[in-house]
Amino acid sequence: MQGWIVPPPKKPTKTKEQLRREREKKVRSLIKHGYLRSERIKNAMLKVPREDFMPRCYKDYAYLEVPFPLPGEQATISCPHSYPLFYEPLGLDEGHRFLEVGLGSGYGTALAYEIVGKDGLVVSIEIDPLTFDYAKKNLEVAGYHDVVLVKGDGGLGYPKFSPYDRICITAACTEIPPPLLAQLKVQGRLIAPSAEHGVQNLVLYEKRETSFTREVLCEVLYVSLRGKYGQCENPAF
Ligand SMILES: C[S@@+](CC[C@H](N)C(=O)[O-])C[C@H]1O[C@@H](n2cnc3c(N)ncnc32)[C@H](O)[C@@H]1O
Repeated sequence: MQGWIVPPPKKPTKTKEQLRREREKKVRSLIKHGYLRSERIKNAMLKVPREDFMPRCYKDYAYLEVPFPLPGEQATISCPHSYPLFYEPLGLDEGHRFLEVGLGSGYGTALAYEIVGKDGLVVSIEIDPLTFDYAKKNLEVAGYHDVVLVKGDGGLGYPKFSPYDRICITAACTEIPPPLLAQLKVQGRLIAPSAEHGVQNLVLYEKRETSFTREVLCEVLYVSLRGKYGQCENPAF
């Protein structure tokens, strides 16, 4: 799998209207290519402007399939297709109690908020303090005050609001942190990039009464999980 070429930083010149048209075109393309199927995820992607979660110098590139660097040590805002890639197999839906490990820019958190709606709950954890502050500000400016943001090691989960219907880990791990499996509801689903034998696969887990099902979905490339259950040294790129 190849890396990406990040275009050079520049002063933003595109209008809100231009970016809105690009967003609609991106959604059409994600539907056409089979990434985007559910109405709620589609509506969330149409509603939340990705540019509002990008560093100013990259705003004009908001709808390119490129992960852009964020303030912090290893943080990126993932490519646009990554969100339906994770949220569709998770079956993220209205009313879900959702835990995200790896807040990054806050964009995935805003999408999740739109998907789960007012009867659901979104909790997101970020380990990097600089990245955390960046995302918190983005979410505040965009009007997402009703999400729970936690600065700390997401590998430990957030027991206060557990059990969760859905958990999404947005950094690559060699093992799924046991506290996250423990904080998942029975019949709940967890999705994560799993690093094994030099490649990363996106893996979907579903919790049964006494076991888990595990399905490998596709190859991916993500920054490494940090913290107690992280890999020692191996930034993915
Ligand atoms: C690919 S980025 C997340 C993208 C994000 N979902 C978005 O929409 O912008 C992965 C994030 O996971 C964070 N991270 C890595 N290890 C973590 C951990 N143990 N707990 C919480 N966050 C972690 C990184 O700092 C980075 O911000």
